[in-house]
Order: sequence, then structure tokens, then C-alpha cells
Amino acid sequence: MSALIELKDVTKIYGGNFLSKENQTIAVNKATFAIEEDNPRIVTIAGESGSGKTTMTRLLLGSIRPTTGEMYYRGKDFRKLSRKERRQFQLDVQPIFQDPFESYNPFYKVDHVLHAPIKNFKLARSKDERDELVNESLRLVGLQPDETLGRFPHQLSGGQRQRIMVARALLLKPRVILADEPVSMVDASLRATILDSIQTLKDDLGITIVYITHDLTTAFQISDDILIMYRGNVVEHGDVERVIHNPQHAYTQLLIESIPQPDPDKRWGELVRATGTDIVNAGRQRDIFGIEPGQEQEYDEVEPNHWVLKSVSPEEEEAAPEPVESAST
Ligand SMILES: Nc1ncnc2c1ncn2[C@@H]1O[C@H](COP(=O)(O)OP(=O)(O)OP(=O)(O)O)[C@@H](O)[C@H]1O
Ligand SMILES: [Mg+2]
Repeated sequence: MSALIELKDVTKIYGGNFLSKENQTIAVNKATFAIEEDNPRIVTIAGESGSGKTTMTRLLLGSIRPTTGEMYYRGKDFRKLSRKERRQFQLDVQPIFQDPFESYNPFYKVDHVLHAPIKNFKLARSKDERDELVNESLRLVGLQPDETLGRFPHQLSGGQRQRIMVARALLLKPRVILADEPVSMVDASLRATILDSIQTLKDDLGITIVYITHDLTTAFQISDDILIMYRGNVVEHGDVERVIHNPQHAYTQLLIESIPQPDPDKRWGELVRATGTDIVNAGRQRDIFGIEPGQEQEYDEVEPNHWVLKSVSPEEEEAAPEPVESAST
């Protein structure tokens, strides 16, 4: 049984050119990752700002192409999909955007946002059928159609808008939903709402959720598996309980230590900036976490379903230049 989506050794590099590696950013480095179809999971991708989380989701969505490496959809090379297979992929894998409605004209009513995909994918043969689909989707996310339709986005609460984006995704009967956490809207009640609906999607509809967050506490609450990203590398992954209770990688340990801080995002950023070296422009220089730009992604299985990235081999370590302190940047 092949995976629904599979990344093999996928790298995404931004910037630079054929002549120069200057200003290159390895946004995702040699990621190998699969989403199974028959085993719905909630998978969290966590890591500080700029670690490559959104890039990873955009790769999984097929909206950007890997610089190197392979991607498969139902076992088939993504580049070789037929028109029909590509259409099915676009139904199977749905994003929920970081800023709901950001991509929509504010003068369109909610109805438009929901009708558009139905029209695009020709999912209904009549107005009645279309309305039926819309109502069903709204109810799945706990919204009353008559209290939602006919309104403009600004006439709804943040939580309602978020639910509409989920309802919109559900119209297409996806197998996977990729949810990039709305960083701009993090009040506690909204977060609870989102988490609630994510759990329902998995339990009731058998949909796998890839949930992107900075927040390890929520990740721990809702997910089955977790991937910890650090500067494009998946440094540790596996069962969420095992990774959080028994973190092996220095970076994961740092993240977990910073959880009780009042502003964890800020704290991580500060810590890393204060002690890390700039791997983006530093050639083969390694940073405090023993990570070298573009290094191989090999893992030790420390316990069942818990893997940690191997650091570069001791031979290479000797050959590599001394890490340079860059506390000034
Ligand atoms: N289109 C682009 N062109 C150039 N560099 C990019 C582009 N998109 C992302 N990057 C860089 O790639 C790296 C990873 O970015 P990405 O958006 O994946 O991070 P992220 O983990 O989602 O961060 P955040 O938590 O802030 O959303 C960053 O260094 C970013 O500056
Ligand atoms: Mg992001």
C-alpha cells in the first residue's frame, strides 16, 4: 500500500543562482516524509520562525516544486501525473490558510468563498445540489447556514471565519488538510475552537491533519506525531509523547525548556540568535546544534516511533572549520 503523499530527500532552496551560493536559503533540507491514507493522524510540524514549516506544507501541497528530490502522489511521480490525477490531488489535499480571507476580496460574501470551489471543480449539477453541499459542510464545522450565509467576512468573528475556511476545504472531501496556524489570531478561545474542529476532522471524517505551529503545548494536546524543524532540517520526529517527554536533540530540548516562558516565540528566537552561527551564508560552517548546511538527514531510532537526526560524522567534524561565534548578528 503506497502513501498518499511521499517526499523523498526533498530540498527546497530559495535564492542564489548557478554561479553563486551566496544568499541561498535552504528552506527545507533533504526531507523524507510520508502521509498515509488509511491511518488518519494529526501531525504537527513545529519549529521557530523561518525553520521551513510553511515551505514544507507548500511542498506537500504541490504549490512549489522541490529543488532536488522526489515527490510521489499515490505512488506516482508528482511530475508525471495525468490531468485527471492532478485534479484528484487538488481535491485530496486542502490547505487552510494562515490568514483566512486574506486571499479573498473583502467585498465578496461568504457564499462566494464557498461557491467558488464547487464551480471550479464542477461538484454540483444544480443550485439545489450546490446549496445542499454548502449547508452540509457548514454543519460539519458547527456553523448554522442561516447565520452565516449572506454575510461579509468582516461581519463574522475570527473563529467563524476560520471555520468557514475549514468548511470550504471540506466541500472537496479531502484526505489531508494542511493547517498553518493563524499566528495573528491566537486568543485562547479561538485556539480551542480550531483545535476542536481539527480533532473532529480526524475522528469523524478520517482526515489526516498536518498542523503547523510554534506552540508545543497545543501540539502535545492534539497531535499523534510531531516533526521538529530547525533551519530546514527535521531534527527529531515521531510519537508526540515520546518526543516531548524524552527529547534527544539539543534543539528540541531547547524548545521544550522554553515552554514555560511567557513569550515562547520570542524566547526561542533570542536564544538561537544569541548563540547560533549564521548557516545561511556560512558555507559549510556548523552551528551550535552540530548542524551543517545541506547535511545528510540520517536518523537514529532511539525508541519505537522516535527518531533523532544524526550529527555529522566525527571524520567530517575534524575536517570542518571551527564554529564561529556570531553573537553580533
Ligand atoms: N519565496 C521565498 N524566497 C526566498 N526565501 C524564502 C521564501 N519563502 C521562504 N523563504 C525563506 O525560507 C526559510 C523558511 O521559510 P518558511 O516560510 O518555510 O518558515 P516558517 O517556519 O513557516 O516560518 P514562520 O513560523 O515565520 O511562518 C526562511 O529563511 C525564509 O526567509
Ligand atoms: Mg510559516
